[in-house]
Parts: sequence; structure tokens; C-alpha cells
Amino acid sequence: MKLLVIGAGNMGLTYAKAIADSNILKSKIMIMDLDEAKMQQLQAEGTFETYTNVKECTPKADAIMVAVKPQHKDGLFADMKSLMKPEQLIISVMAGVSIATIQKGLGVDKVVRAMPNLPAQLGLGMTTFFPDNSVSEEEQELVDQMLASTGKSLRLSKEDDINTSTAVSGSGPAFIFYFIQSMLDGAKHYGYDDATAKELVTQTFAGALEQYIKGDLTPEEWMKRVASKGGTTQAALDKFDEQEVRAGIKKGMIACYDRAIELSKL
Ligand SMILES: NC(=O)c1ccc[n+]([C@@H]2O[C@H](COP(=O)([O-])OP(=O)(O)OC[C@H]3O[C@@H](n4cnc5c(N)ncnc54)[C@H](OP(=O)(O)O)[C@@H]3O)[C@@H](O)[C@H]2O)c1
Repeated sequence: MKLLVIGAGNMGLTYAKAIADSNILKSKIMIMDLDEAKMQQLQAEGTFETYTNVKECTPKADAIMVAVKPQHKDGLFADMKSLMKPEQLIISVMAGVSIATIQKGLGVDKVVRAMPNLPAQLGLGMTTFFPDNSVSEEEQELVDQMLASTGKSLRLSKEDDINTSTAVSGSGPAFIFYFIQSMLDGAKHYGYDDATAKELVTQTFAGALEQYIKGDLTPEEWMKRVASKGGTTQAALDKFDEQEVRAGIKKGMIACYDRAIELSKL
């Protein structure tokens, strides 16, 4: 399968590099971006065939990953539509752009919509995806492998789960950073310098996460392992509950989903 990645930004390059490194595809990946200097540099690196004109590369592709910002899709689709062939497969990572919008904009049926997250850049990403029913099982399997080259991938059973997974994994790294920042703020309250606060907080996060992944207890049960009645940890957990921290995080995730729906209607 010949893959074309359109948009050599954060996401496009992350996937293009991970797919190339994984050797899933036999032929060289094509990458296209309007930025000529960036394309010249990538061409010199030798991994990809690079293009600055969508008309030259679109007809050569079996699958096209669209990784431009949603506000650039209309211009891009207008340039591509007359070049598209019905057998070509589209994989879109654009947030808030529905399968129906892509099908209409490009005049093709075979569309997979994916929702990546930022740690894909480190090979620790979580990408969810939903394929239109015109995409064959074999193609879905290949897409699954390509997306999983940046970490893990999960096939969803309905398109709306792109929005629900945005509220969990897509936007999720920012929620984790929010909690990390809150603990750094707490450490600084006690006078720790930045480096020491970072060490204390990050090792605590890494250790707790590993314990949860490797153990067979729920987070609730792990909390009980750390907290004893009337003790220091329980004092903190009681204060979190009094401040409705847990309910606030859930409300934030619901707001995230609602916003995903709003954006997909624009
Ligand atoms: N970053 C994330 O964590 C994340 C998470 C989930 C989903 N996404 C989705 O991923 C997509 C890409 O995001 P990103 O952060 O990678 O954006 P980005 O870094 O801005 O990359 C997009 C690239 O596409 C280029 N481009 C714009 N119009 C083009 C065109 N007509 N043809 C070819 N290239 C064009 C842009 O060039 P210019 O810079 O010159 O405009 C830029 O190099 C977005 O749709 C976003 O919703 C991102």
C-alpha cells in the first residue's frame, strides 16, 4: 500500500515517522506540506518522498492520511476532490470533522476517523479510530497497525465514541498535566525548588501508575493501601472530596465531550 501523509506538522510527521520505522508498508511513504523548506529538509533526510503540490502525489496514493488543521480542510478538499479515486482510503486525524463531511468534501466512501493523543510523539500514544462500513476488514487491520505504530490503537464501534474518547484519551494528557501541575504547586508551597519538586512528583506519578498497571487492585483499593483511618493521606483525600475534586474532573470530561460535539457541527 502506498501511503500519502498530508500535513507535516506534529501529528502528520509523528505518524509518518512511526509507520516508516515499523516497516508495516513496503513502499516509501509520501509526505506533502505547503512549506517548501520543510519538504526540502525532509527530502534530504531520505526517509520520505516529499511533495508541495497535492496534485502530484494524490493520484499515486492508495491511502491518504489527512493531518492538517480542521480550518485548512476546505481548501485542501477543493484541491483534491477531482483527483480522488473511489478505491482510495482516507485516514483523518482532524479533530471534530465527521466522516460524512470528509466523504462529501472528497467524494469518496472509504474513510477512517482517528483521534490521537500527544504522547504518540514518544511512541506512547493512544489512538482511537472508527472506520466507515465501506472500509474492508483487511484495510481496517492495516490502519490499526499503522496507528498502533505510535503506541496503542483501539477500534471503536460507533462514530460518537471518537467524541467520548476525546474526553478520555485525546484530551486526557492535559488532565494528567493539570494534576501534575497541582502537585508541583503544592510542593512549591513547602519551599521545594523546581528540580526537587519535579523529581518528587514525577517519581510518585511513575511509581503509582506502574503499581496500578502491574497490580490487580482498583485505584480505590490502592488508595486504601496508602491511607489509614485518621492518618495523613486520609486527611488529604477527605479534603479532595470536600472540594469535590473528583466530581469536578468528571464534569470537565463531560464539558470536553460537549465541546467536541459543538465543534463537529461548525
Ligand atoms: N496535536 C495534537 O495533540 C492533536 C490531537 C488530536 C488531533 N489532532 C489533529 O491533528 C491535526 C494536525 O494537528 P497538528 O498539531 O499536527 O497541526 P500542525 O502542527 O499545524 O500541522 C499541520 C500541518 O499541515 C500544514 N498544512 C496546512 N494546510 C495544508 C495543505 N493544504 N496541504 C498540506 N499541508 C498543509 C501546516 O502548514 P502551516 O503550518 O503552514 O499551516 C502544518 O505543517 C489537526 O486536525 C488536529 O485536530 C492533533
